[in-house]
Amino acid sequence: MKTQIGNDINRAIQLLNEGELISIPTETVYGLAANGLNSSAVAKIYEAKKRPSFNPLILHFSSFEQVRPYLSLIPDYLETLVQKFSPGPLTYIVKKPISIPDITTSGLDTFAFRIPNHPLTLELLSALNFPLAAPSANIFGMTSPTNYTHVFDQLNGRIPYILDGGACVIGLESTILDCTSTRPIIRRFGGVSKEDIEEVLSMEVIVESYGSKSLAPGMLAAHYSPGIPLELLSEEEWIQFIPNENCALLSLSRIHPLQRNHSSIQLSKTRNMNEAAAKLFESLRFFKSNNCERIIAHTMPERGIGLAINDRLKRASATRF
Ligand code: TXA
Ligand code: MG
Repeated sequence: MKTQIGNDINRAIQLLNEGELISIPTETVYGLAANGLNSSAVAKIYEAKKRPSFNPLILHFSSFEQVRPYLSLIPDYLETLVQKFSPGPLTYIVKKPISIPDITTSGLDTFAFRIPNHPLTLELLSALNFPLAAPSANIFGMTSPTNYTHVFDQLNGRIPYILDGGACVIGLESTILDCTSTRPIIRRFGGVSKEDIEEVLSMEVIVESYGSKSLAPGMLAAHYSPGIPLELLSEEEWIQFIPNENCALLSLSRIHPLQRNHSSIQLSKTRNMNEAAAKLFESLRFFKSNNCERIIAHTMPERGIGLAINDRLKRASATRF
């Protein structure tokens, strides 16, 4: 099967209605989508991504009205958050109704949903009579794709169609918020910051990722692998580090004293964290394709989306080669 690329929404609708997989653009990363209510369509996602076991998927809807029929007990703060952050990079975990198949949630009694903020995908979702289950469109454990060429590189021949919606504006996955109790819990840092959620709710938000025993791939210690080892230092250590030959240097804004001998990327010269997030995954890919053998990176300031970038860098650095 040759993977086709285009922006033909009718073709996308037809394939999804037939239970096929397509890759869809979102504001965070490209997704690998199928009818989330059709077990055999969802099974194809796991196969195409080579996920070693079933892990719960996020359901994507076009509006909160589309989600309502699936909701039962929800906390008061959920609607406040939806009004403020959706469409956008925030995913909510709530109680699951029986109408959502177990394979979509890998047997959990909760499900995750979000409303992605991308015009083409919102148009697509409103033309369907089911939500789309979609993990990031990468082979399991690898860096998430932020444009169609990244998807094509990893999934060519494994899916019939990639809906091209341009480069992802945010470039990092959504924040995952567990809304099953009276206080929300952040399970994964992402496009919406902890500070923004706390401000809207006027309450402190707990952070509790599932840790290494989790069912959740984006929450495994080793994930987002750039395909070569990544070493994560503090900014002070990084500037003093003496890199070997073929080491690549990744920084927020700093120029390393030995920079001219190495491949290097500054994610944002003005230390704009949103710009840094949007360039992160693409930069990690660049080093591998540029024949670098190791990436030396430093941690970002521990606030806002900087927390999400650090989370991805830590997991990328945990992969063993
Ligand atoms: O930005 C995003 O969230 C992207 C785009 C495509 O929407 N999607 C994405 O999906 O990052 P994925 O599968 O790579 O990561 C989804 C995360 C996983 O870590 C999964 O375990 C967790 O969400 N998750 C899904 N349903 C869950 C549930 N019911 N309880 C706990 N975690 C859940
Ligand atoms: Mg992923």
